[in-house]
Amino acid sequence: MFGRERIEYKTHDQVRAMRRAGLVVAQALETVRGAARPGMTTSDLDELAAAVIADAGATPSFLGYEGYPATVCVSVNDEVVHGIPGPRELRPGDVVSVDCGAIVDGWHGDSAASFVLGDADPADEALVEATRRAMWDGIAALATSERLGGVGAAIEDSVRESGARSGVVFGIVEEYVGHGIGSAMHQPPDVPNHRTRERGPRLRPGMCLAIEPMLTRGERLTQVCEDDWTVVTDDGSRSAHWEHSVALLEGGIWVLTAVDGGRQELADRGVEIAPLAG
Ligand code: MF3
Ligand code: CO
Repeated sequence: MFGRERIEYKTHDQVRAMRRAGLVVAQALETVRGAARPGMTTSDLDELAAAVIADAGATPSFLGYEGYPATVCVSVNDEVVHGIPGPRELRPGDVVSVDCGAIVDGWHGDSAASFVLGDADPADEALVEATRRAMWDGIAALATSERLGGVGAAIEDSVRESGARSGVVFGIVEEYVGHGIGSAMHQPPDVPNHRTRERGPRLRPGMCLAIEPMLTRGERLTQVCEDDWTVVTDDGSRSAHWEHSVALLEGGIWVLTAVDGGRQELADRGVEIAPLAG
């Protein structure tokens, strides 16, 4: 897995195109999150994201990807990832994960966010927050680690810490991982969300990586549904997913799908971002 396939190193101009794609994805996710209400269907969310991407003159990357039939993935409650939008109505208290990708000038952005609709079960809130923190701790590790294996280690440590703090037992999904991203949505290297025996490739400027932990409120094991897409937890526990696409630059890292480039969250972790020079 690690280090055997070719990594695409990006030029500064290519990273700038990826930033444009990243901002479109950020806007689509913000729009969806701001509009989501009980009674809306998951298809309604898909249409909102599709409109933002079209208005920006960008192309949705999921639509048609290995036959995937929609612009976003909407994964509710025990659905982990790759939920297909449809007639399902959202209900108060649902844990909703929205994953979105867009292409600008051939360059990709990929990001996901989870939230609880309306009044949240505190354990669900803890799940969403633990996943979000794990993602940011994994992103910060891109700035502080020599090798990619540092990301999974940081995510795992973060999740264990969140578990201890909240009293909720979290599982880290292992069957799905983060990935390189650039002229294609999925590129080498894989980015596991747990500590492995492999140190992984050296982290170098020009790499762009999607960091995307998926947590459950129970066991880590998953199954794929009859529709061949929707991934659900084996034990029926609820799940959350957060993702950002990140560029490694000479002067540091830059979170392409975060409106502020990750400045705030990374500052909280003692990491300074390296803004993309105009
Ligand atoms: N965004 C997902 C990922 O992070 C992929 C979505 S699969 C698709 O890897 F088929 F919907 F595109
Ligand atoms: Co991804």
